[in-house]
Amino acid sequence: MDWYAEELLCHDLPTKPRPELGTVLVTGATGYIGGRLAPELQARGYSVRIMVRRASPEHQERWPDAEIAVADSLNVGDLKKALEGVSVAYYLIHSMLLGKKEFEYTDIQAVTNFRFVAEEMGLKRIIYLGGLGRYQPALSNHLKSRLNVAEILIRSKVPCTVLRAAIIIGSGSASYEIIHNLVRNWPVYVIPSWTDTLCQPISIRDVVKYLVGVLELDETAGKLYEICGDEVLSYREMIRTLARILRKRRLFLRSPVSSIKLYSYFASLLTPVPAPIIQCLMESVKTEVICGDSEIKKLIPFKTINYKVSLLRALSREDHDAIYTRWSDAYPPANELAMKLAELEEPPRFTSTYSILTEKSTRNLFGSICRIGGKEGWFQNNWMWWLRGFIDRMLMGVGTSRGRRSESNLRINDVIGFWRVEDLIPERKLLLRAEMILPGKAWLEFRILPEEADSNRLSVHAYFQPRGLPGRLYWYNFLPFHFIIFKNLLKQIVKRS
Ligand SMILES: NC(=O)c1ccc[n+]([C@@H]2O[C@H](COP(=O)([O-])OP(=O)(O)OC[C@H]3O[C@@H](n4cnc5c(N)ncnc54)[C@H](OP(=O)(O)O)[C@@H]3O)[C@@H](O)[C@H]2O)c1
Repeated sequence: MDWYAEELLCHDLPTKPRPELGTVLVTGATGYIGGRLAPELQARGYSVRIMVRRASPEHQERWPDAEIAVADSLNVGDLKKALEGVSVAYYLIHSMLLGKKEFEYTDIQAVTNFRFVAEEMGLKRIIYLGGLGRYQPALSNHLKSRLNVAEILIRSKVPCTVLRAAIIIGSGSASYEIIHNLVRNWPVYVIPSWTDTLCQPISIRDVVKYLVGVLELDETAGKLYEICGDEVLSYREMIRTLARILRKRRLFLRSPVSSIKLYSYFASLLTPVPAPIIQCLMESVKTEVICGDSEIKKLIPFKTINYKVSLLRALSREDHDAIYTRWSDAYPPANELAMKLAELEEPPRFTSTYSILTEKSTRNLFGSICRIGGKEGWFQNNWMWWLRGFIDRMLMGVGTSRGRRSESNLRINDVIGFWRVEDLIPERKLLLRAEMILPGKAWLEFRILPEEADSNRLSVHAYFQPRGLPGRLYWYNFLPFHFIIFKNLLKQIVKRS
């Protein structure tokens, strides 16, 4: 574990580790919160089982001492296997990426299955992190869904601890990246009245401490706690604070228009976070989310990190290229877009290949490939990639602006703009899967093959499995661009190696 990862661990937690509790299951470990919690539990000596929806080679590498269980909470059979022998389970499953129309139903289905299987398998405890807010007519669907999930779990025969948080600030959190990108890229804000709504943010580090702390205190079983930082701020103040830290002069103008749909659409064009997530989050900003109860602070006392320091920590992690988990880690509408190249029933219908012979070493070539889509973009014809991403964003797709978790290193499942790393063999190959809106499925593969003495063949392969006639037309339409883009891309990779 490098020192940045080491630094994530909450050494000053006032509770004591209790590895004798037995196997602790972490669901949602590929997501933002679960990804931070799992190493913390392992470092405290717990026997951890990680539940993922799809097996992937990087899981064992990421959690070397953990057991990996593959299960989808929508499948009861899967769940029974994953929960066998588990003592305590963290429920950190969330389907927000499915978008507004689908996530509510899916989340209810997933938690209902989980609750009944947990009862059947005799779990001793479930710990759930949800959202703040109280039932009221104006409550957003997102917050309502978080309350509904909590209610289903709290009624379970398995004692459940519910933690409820408002906005979570930390490197890689969607809320932080929205605020950061707005402040960095936009000088004038035409803001509606709901930016005055109050909220009580909490840093990701403190969230992890509370999640671990409640596990280590039996008296928290069957209880509900609100977890927050110490400051109550409006969304406008939150933007202003970051602008001050970044020394950016920002102008705020009042707007009579308050349509969340419109604002989330524009925000999605200006930030890396796609529209479905922004819309879900923004719908909640009309509701005040302030802690009404501070019981947890008596049980697990420690000094929480204030909003400004949370921002500074997140900025520092970005500067050091040390973001550990990011909102983009969780899959988009999972199985539909997550089909792997090797899982196609037959080889992809269309392939185009370009290659170049070079004397550069495999190490340098691979290092150069691994920097694509970062600060230097795609090394050439960046406007074409930008335009393709922009069209995707207009169609409510993910676009290219999701960027990357790290500028210098890649791991399986990382995103690079509208691509996701599907496979990676150091110094040999990098396989990317397209997650933009397409009439088919697409992959892009870089390969390095040693040839004669002291030379290597660097190649790029575009694969496309079209969906009907629009898919075929799409392929033929883009084929001439492939020639320009990929030939130049290979030259630039070699040049930078
Ligand atoms: N992040 C925040 O700022 C924030 C703030 C307040 C509260 N919370 C709460 O914290 C919890 C976790 O949030 P998060 O931000 O970590 O979510 P996230 O990054 O979107 O991750 C969601 C996780 O759920 C998994 N998942 C989705 N559907 C599943 C299914 N059917 N079966 C099994 N796993 C499934 C995903 O796995 P795949 O990788 O396979 O998609 C992913 O690991 C949520 O309850 C959320 O309300 C978060």
